[in-house]
Amino acid sequence: MNITILGAGAIGSLWACHLKEAGHNVSLWLRTPKISSHTLQLDDQTPLTFTTNDDTRLEQSDVLLITVKAWQVKEALLPLLDKLHTDTILVFMHNGMGAVEEVENELRHYPVVLATTTQAAMKPSLDKVNHTGAGQTQLGPFNAKGTQCQFLAEVFNHTLPDVFWTSDIQTALWQKLAINCAINPLTALEQCRNGNLAEARYSEPLRHIIQEVSEVMAQEGIPVSFSELNSKVYKVITATKDNYSSMQQDLCYQRPTEIDFITGYLCRKAQEHKINVPANQALYDEIKRIEHSWRTQ
Ligand code: NAP
Ligand code: PAF
Repeated sequence: MNITILGAGAIGSLWACHLKEAGHNVSLWLRTPKISSHTLQLDDQTPLTFTTNDDTRLEQSDVLLITVKAWQVKEALLPLLDKLHTDTILVFMHNGMGAVEEVENELRHYPVVLATTTQAAMKPSLDKVNHTGAGQTQLGPFNAKGTQCQFLAEVFNHTLPDVFWTSDIQTALWQKLAINCAINPLTALEQCRNGNLAEARYSEPLRHIIQEVSEVMAQEGIPVSFSELNSKVYKVITATKDNYSSMQQDLCYQRPTEIDFITGYLCRKAQEHKINVPANQALYDEIKRIEHSWRTQ
């Protein structure tokens, strides 16, 4: 398949290398247009060279895999839409929710697929990517045209397993959102590893966060119980105990976080359903306060 990756960061580079290795024609769309090729080395494998920012390759793409951060989706994607064929399948892979809804109107002619992944990757330098944790990826339709793209799960599964298709991607996204609401802001504010959240002093704050998330999820029609969500969160805390969360890293390096699409999305949904979410709202306000403080420095 002809595949273009928009957002050749950690996750985008991981998929780019695996898709190319699997025999697909993969090109990258980078922020800097003057570069015409880019080399990426996955772990200690042979470096691979990718064509970049090639209008013809973009027009001929069967799939555009969008792996920018949630808050970068709009700015990165909109300028490319008039160069794309409306048969191109748009696959969004990022943490958080609400970013695709922001551009929903502009996407109505395209097949749109949403993805959530627990694969982990990091880029120690511009041309290197490390696969730091094996996980699972779920794909599912965002719109009617997207429902015809089930075959993609098989294509992606041959590339970087395990990949599953789900007709109910919203449930998968909400479950990931719940985990991110619990782990990300707390680890960011405490500047601690995920595993530290297993300490007794965090059990009350976590209980409040998860309780509020489960109430909002229930109103959204997502089948969930507090105890199920609670045990999922603690499983991730244990499984990733030595890791720093993405939001901890963003705050540490003074990079914009994905809070508006994680806790912010939860708070917006809570407001729509007239549910009070004071624990999540306080975390949201504090992260936003810190982000604003960088701008006034
Ligand atoms: P990342 O390394 O920051 O990658 C984002 C990439 O998008 C960067 O290379 C960035 O380029 C590029 N980009 C941003 N705006 C662009 C634009 N206008 N045009 C072209 N490229 C643009 O982030 P990541 O870690 O890969 O994460 C991507 C998403 O996956 C996030 O939502 C994250 O939460 C999620 N996720 C990540 C992991 C992981 O292990 N890394 C795991 C699961 C989910 P610049 O560097 O030039 O800004
Ligand atoms: O954003 C992250 O860091 C990850 O999604 C997770 C699951 C919280 C693990 O660190």
